[in-house]
Amino acid sequence: MANFRLHCRLFSLAVFLFLFLFPLSFSHSQYDDDESDQNSPISRFQHYLRIKTAHPDPDYASAVSFLESQALEIGLHTKILEFVPGKPLLLVTWNGLNPSLPSILLNSHMDSVPAEPSKWLYPPFSALRTSDGKIFARGSQDDKCIAIQYLEAIRNLRSRNFIPDRTIHISYVPDEEIGGFDGASKFVLSKEFKELNVGFMMDEGQASPGDEFRVFYADRSPWGLIIRAEGAPGHGSRMYDNSAMENLMKSVEIISKFRESQFDMVKAGETANSEVISVNPVFVNAGIPSPTGFVMNMQPSEAEAGFDLRIPPTADPDAIRRRIVEEWAPARRNLTSQIIEKGPIRDYLGRPLMTMTNDSNPWWSVFKTAISDAGGKLSRPEILASTTDARFMRQLGIPVLGFSPMSNTPILLHEHNEFLKDTVFLRGIKIYESIISALSSFVADASQ
Ligand SMILES: *[C@@H]1O[C@H](CO)[C@@H](O)[C@H](O)[C@H]1NC(C)=O
Ligand SMILES: *[C@@H]1O[C@H](CO)[C@@H](O)[C@H](O)[C@H]1NC(C)=O
Ligand SMILES: [Zn+2]
Repeated sequence: MANFRLHCRLFSLAVFLFLFLFPLSFSHSQYDDDESDQNSPISRFQHYLRIKTAHPDPDYASAVSFLESQALEIGLHTKILEFVPGKPLLLVTWNGLNPSLPSILLNSHMDSVPAEPSKWLYPPFSALRTSDGKIFARGSQDDKCIAIQYLEAIRNLRSRNFIPDRTIHISYVPDEEIGGFDGASKFVLSKEFKELNVGFMMDEGQASPGDEFRVFYADRSPWGLIIRAEGAPGHGSRMYDNSAMENLMKSVEIISKFRESQFDMVKAGETANSEVISVNPVFVNAGIPSPTGFVMNMQPSEAEAGFDLRIPPTADPDAIRRRIVEEWAPARRNLTSQIIEKGPIRDYLGRPLMTMTNDSNPWWSVFKTAISDAGGKLSRPEILASTTDARFMRQLGIPVLGFSPMSNTPILLHEHNEFLKDTVFLRGIKIYESIISALSSFVADASQ
């Protein structure tokens, strides 16, 4: 009897599972249109997302090979450059009718930051599309979307027999996420780059949670600052002036006040985070090690602290250098400072690294009109809080706008569960069709 009842229960459990859980799991399951629709922009985007170009071991060879095959299929010219072994750069070209006009360069980095699979809802290199259209993958926003959108937009323009006046290039570069020093930085110094005769460039931007697209006209320049303090050592019990720690702590206090003054402007809504000078402590190094930690009854003769600084192009770097030497780390308090400048801060003529977003820049007007012609809206142009490869091109005086057409999208770059919706991705292709056709048809003299 007991046995029969158990069987009965098991049977009804099985029926329950079958009737309720199975359909549930189907209706809630992710779907992948790869098999039904191999030949679509979405499936090509997914293909690229599945190539593991995350650091520390990005598979550039597979990325270049896939992107090149796409470019060739569309009928474009390709060239592979390699400034550092193992770090290829793919150059794609669509020749314009008038090769003497400065060209348009569309840039996208192939690498991405790492992902921690255990913290993701879906594997970060699955490019899995959920039933509500979210494509989950590391790089889906930063910045593999634009890599494929450039090509898809050109594919569509070519299928409509559009012929560009200006030549269009796409550069797929390595190593942006680790500073670009073996990628874009070397590329801009090459004769191959010079030969492109770039008049205007577009690079990555960021997602926008609202209806409007965001556009970036400058990056902040990153500086590493190390402040070292010296002072007489002494017993831990003794109070005396000018120990190394006291000198460093005074310095930290002054820097904190400056940080507060900048942050207060942001908190008051007067300015954006990216428009102030940010300074954040990142390490402190002091103390005399002992087997169990630190010697507690001794005041050390040396101490140092490290800070991450981000300098907007509107700030005067010389004034900051003076402030550091005179206020933050004065020699009279036994302090020294070291600034590690990670990249350029002024262009070749000594001008701030920013692209004009008013009538003084004809490219800006063409870009802006192309967005509205495609039914899009732009929010107020911004400075990017972090950095991109665009700074290397701005250093040469080339106007660059940072733009990734992702509206109504949470900002998920470098975060867990980075995703992009299929509809947003597809609309981005239309936006680039408008931008590319407008830029390449703009034949007035745009030299600035
Ligand atoms: C500077 O350091 C020296 C020795 O390291 C110490 O004798 C002197 O008092 C210090 N002066 C100041 C202003 O910290
Ligand atoms: C454009 O903006 C720059 C910087 O804000 C300014 O110096 C310049 O006068 C502006 N030019 C025009 C034509 O509005
Ligand atoms: Zn990026």
